[in-house]
Amino acid sequence: MSTWKTPQRIWLTGATSGIGEALATKLIAQGHHVVLSARNQEALDDLCDGHPNAYSLPVDISDHQAVIAAGEQISTWLGALDIALFNAGTCEYLDAQHFDMALIERVFTPNLFGTLYGVEAALPLLRAARKEGKPARLAATSSASAYLPLPRAEAYGASKAAISYFLESLRLDLDQEGIDVSVIHPGFVKTPLTDRNDFPMPMQVTAEQAADAIIAGLVKGKLDIHFPRRFTYLVKCLGILPPALRRHIGLRMTRRQEEQQ
Ligand SMILES: NC(=O)c1ccc[n+]([C@@H]2O[C@H](COP(=O)([O-])OP(=O)(O)OC[C@H]3O[C@@H](n4cnc5c(N)ncnc54)[C@H](OP(=O)(O)O)[C@@H]3O)[C@@H](O)[C@H]2O)c1
Repeated sequence: MSTWKTPQRIWLTGATSGIGEALATKLIAQGHHVVLSARNQEALDDLCDGHPNAYSLPVDISDHQAVIAAGEQISTWLGALDIALFNAGTCEYLDAQHFDMALIERVFTPNLFGTLYGVEAALPLLRAARKEGKPARLAATSSASAYLPLPRAEAYGASKAAISYFLESLRLDLDQEGIDVSVIHPGFVKTPLTDRNDFPMPMQVTAEQAADAIIAGLVKGKLDIHFPRRFTYLVKCLGILPPALRRHIGLRMTRRQEEQQ
């Protein structure tokens, strides 16, 4: 399994379930100093129990001031961060016939603004690692849906496309400080989040496989960490087709989903 040569100071959000839980378990076992965040304190405490290198830091990523306070707590514990990995997120699908702004805000607030509150809180800590002469990496979990607009994914896909754009733009502006930025684009991963989906999810991988791919990508310093590759390359290719062809494919997918329901 991939890991870094020396123990890393890592802040991981969305650590209580699915991809984040698999990441947390592996990073703790590898001996890194890992601060775990999510809302469920009991689940965080269970993950940290018996591991002096793991820190439970409950926070609602949608709460700006709480996320800033979480950053201050990490500063007290670790002084700096080598890696900040914002993985917390949620998914709800829109019914365009009942355009629901409350749903859109429920998705955008944690996925986009929550991630950016985390970035704001983490940047001083990543800069502190740079002052120590160490590499520093910011990372966030976007989605392969950011490559290609999909039916009913208006809110989720747009929140993820916004993360990808924001972080790729930020990568250019942080380059002069030596802070690198990785964007993670998973395909379908079996987690409680996707267990709710009512449509076929081709080439789905396990949360453990996802965590392995993410750690390997971060260790290698990859800018775009995407998996499983057969699926993500296909989606990337579809994403660059002309709009009329993308519409044709999207509508066929929608019809096939309706037939299977
Ligand atoms: N599964 C997939 O196929 C897939 C594909 C592409 C991208 N992704 C992305 O990967 C990330 C992890 O997804 P997953 O499938 O592992 O989902 P999951 O099993 O539902 O886990 C989501 C995690 O995010 C945390 N979270 C949610 N809202 C939060 C909030 N407001 N504040 C703090 N923590 C919050 C949850 O913890 P609490 O409930 O304890 O707060 C949980 O730990 C998400 O960003 C998701 O969009 C997943």
